[in-house]
Amino acid sequence: MDIKVETQKPTAIDTEALVTYVFDKDDRIEGVAAELDAATAGRLKALAESGELTGKALEFTLLHQPPGLAAKRLLLVGAGKAEKFAHAELRRVAGAALRHLKSKSVRRMAFLARETHRDAEAAQCVIEGLLLANFEPDKYKTDKKNGPQRMDACALAGFDAAVHPGVARGRIIAESQNFARDLINEPSNKMTPRMLAERAQAMAREMGLGCEVLDEKRIAELKMGALLSVAQGSVEPPRMIVLTYNPPQAPPAGAPVLGLVGKAVTFDTGGISIKPADGMEKMKYDMAGGATMISAMRALAQLKPAAKIIAVVPATENMPGGRAQKPGDIQIAMSGKSIEVVNTDAEGRLILADGICYARQLGATHLVDAATLTGAIVVALASVNAGVFGSHQPFTDRLLASARATGEKMWPMPLDDEYREFIKGHMADIQNIGSGKGGGAITGAMFLKEFAEETPWVHLDIAGTAWLDDNKPWMAKGATGVALRTLVHLAMNFRDL
Ligand code: BES
Ligand code: MN
Ligand code: ZN
Repeated sequence: MDIKVETQKPTAIDTEALVTYVFDKDDRIEGVAAELDAATAGRLKALAESGELTGKALEFTLLHQPPGLAAKRLLLVGAGKAEKFAHAELRRVAGAALRHLKSKSVRRMAFLARETHRDAEAAQCVIEGLLLANFEPDKYKTDKKNGPQRMDACALAGFDAAVHPGVARGRIIAESQNFARDLINEPSNKMTPRMLAERAQAMAREMGLGCEVLDEKRIAELKMGALLSVAQGSVEPPRMIVLTYNPPQAPPAGAPVLGLVGKAVTFDTGGISIKPADGMEKMKYDMAGGATMISAMRALAQLKPAAKIIAVVPATENMPGGRAQKPGDIQIAMSGKSIEVVNTDAEGRLILADGICYARQLGATHLVDAATLTGAIVVALASVNAGVFGSHQPFTDRLLASARATGEKMWPMPLDDEYREFIKGHMADIQNIGSGKGGGAITGAMFLKEFAEETPWVHLDIAGTAWLDDNKPWMAKGATGVALRTLVHLAMNFRDL
């Protein structure tokens, strides 16, 4: 989509549709809306008085051939209560406007920001909202004409040239989030561990990142027994994907290094502890954590933070098969810890155990992992918030602040020592599921903590938030690319704590 910053006055913008938004309050025709009302000989006030234009969140009012405007249409989007309107709402309003208009065959639009949101950060949010909304998961549809459409161009109005850096940032971040969504939406036959590694490699070459892919032989040499135990049931070999970003100016010795570890199970059948058939097709998105880390690196390569960042992505299928691991098997992880695999469907924590261990060995001083780890996090937080578990409060607080700053909903979850009991091993050091009832998302996190050891670490359980079952007004169904914006913000502001 073409994007430009338009400096003409709104009434003079020649476009298929001019968009702005209106708040839910009595004097809703004020500021920009009052200017448009005056230009259109009172159309907006008339709509408000008739009760059709209320300003309620994501209400759409479309006027054709508005008098006094160069634009062919005027779209007014409800923005909800003015007191509650912030960057997250702005992103959604922009995205919802784009999706509404493209469904009506509009191809070129202009988005007019209100007087309270005209800085570079606001422009960034608008761009993010627009580009995320324009993404459609129609890669494999052969009838593109009757399928979902795309917006070709959007002009940003109300802003001045000073917002250009925000526009550039928004583009980098949203395109990287869409890059993640594309990887995640791919079905498992088009996204095996080897294919994911190839995509990461190609991206790294293009963006100037370091990339090393460990094959099954190297993985075995490094004694990554937990990753291998999951992979052994599949004919597809596993991969450990490592991406490295080095800042333009070499950091001093001993500077902190951020490690991003992502679960990439390209398909999770459950293994011998097999999942029910109903909904199993969705388990192609079990590589969302890994795809998000790869894609965050894509954004960081362009945004150039001051710290060194590495991403470590263990990738495998989880399949039942003649060689598959069986419940009760005992595996030795790379760290040397022994694990009793009580349930082969708790495979994410196994591969992350070796991913976390390897990231530490590569010099990560701080770790964040993202994983579609548990169904239990969906029980706890539904698909509204991602679960956040941390071993180091200042670092966890940083991540939560980044989530708030980027409009991604995340909620802190507990990791009290009491939960350690749940994963105590009988015949091995630990077991991969909790004994007893409840706290499934916490026991998963507790297991990972054993491998992060004393390194400050945050775990994001994105099982509920990485996938949308239905379209939202501002986003197509399928992969969301959640956590990318938070991770990029965290990395851009990363320093020792
Ligand atoms: N990939 C699943 C978790 C998941 C569930 C992701 C729903 C997305 C939507 C994970 O590997 C898994 O199977 N977890 C088990 C753990 C259990 C066996 C302790 C679960 O949540 O049922
Ligand atoms: Mn599983
Ligand atoms: Zn899984």
